[in-house]
Amino acid sequence: MVLDFLKYYWRAKTVHQVHSEFVFNIVQDVFDNSSFSQSLKLIEEKRIKLLKSNETIEVVDFGAGSKGSSSSKKSIRNIAKYAVSPPFQCLWLYHLVRSQKINRVLELGTSLGITAAYLAQGNPHVHVTTIEGDPNISKKANDLFDELHVKIDGRCGQFNEVISDLLKSSNTFDLIYIDGHHAKIPTLEYTERLLPILNSDGILIYDDIYWSEGMKEAWVEIKKGLQIHSSWIFSFGGL
Ligand SMILES: C[S@@+](CC[C@H](N)C(=O)[O-])C[C@H]1O[C@@H](n2cnc3c(N)ncnc32)[C@H](O)[C@@H]1O
Repeated sequence: MVLDFLKYYWRAKTVHQVHSEFVFNIVQDVFDNSSFSQSLKLIEEKRIKLLKSNETIEVVDFGAGSKGSSSSKKSIRNIAKYAVSPPFQCLWLYHLVRSQKINRVLELGTSLGITAAYLAQGNPHVHVTTIEGDPNISKKANDLFDELHVKIDGRCGQFNEVISDLLKSSNTFDLIYIDGHHAKIPTLEYTERLLPILNSDGILIYDDIYWSEGMKEAWVEIKKGLQIHSSWIFSFGGL
């Protein structure tokens, strides 16, 4: 796993070595506009507070998906440290929403809400829906959205349950970001279920494709399976 990850970074070590023109343009945009706007600085200030927090909460263990301990009590500090995407990755998503004028985003895996907050700042029209299974973590995320005054549809529920609700509505998405339940079969199942609500020129992004052998296999199958579909698919950690 580590070897695959290193191989990818060896192959794509500078922005000029990223193959896809589409990805290149977004990475270039991140480098050209790497300063953080005031709204993004506020999100990073919240991240720092979370990283310093002494609070602990009861959490439901969803299995594959968290690098922290599997105990039912977790510190906010550890969740912020291990489960939340780093600033550069959040910035990349923000620029994607900004440069592609994306209007509707769905995130699987809210955690404390940092990524969703970045996505919501991408452009003034973007509507973000994000799903978190753990009620206490979901509450923390929704509190963060209120504190930041960002309008985000933060849903609490298992991914499959909320996907069923979304499938019943007429809502479709320009971007779907899968960042939770990092296991092969669930990842493939979520992908298949989500395709009907992904717009034809929509973008699918997966996090942690090098999490496990199973995730690597899922990524290979997804790339094969989606060749017939017009969506753009990306992952953090490889192309
Ligand atoms: C890696 S974290 C998400 C990080 C977040 N996107 C960010 O970068 O700020 C994954 C989250 O997904 C949630 N999760 C995992 N499996 C789930 C499932 N089957 N249904 C609902 N939530 C789940 C976990 O509770 C965890 O908070």
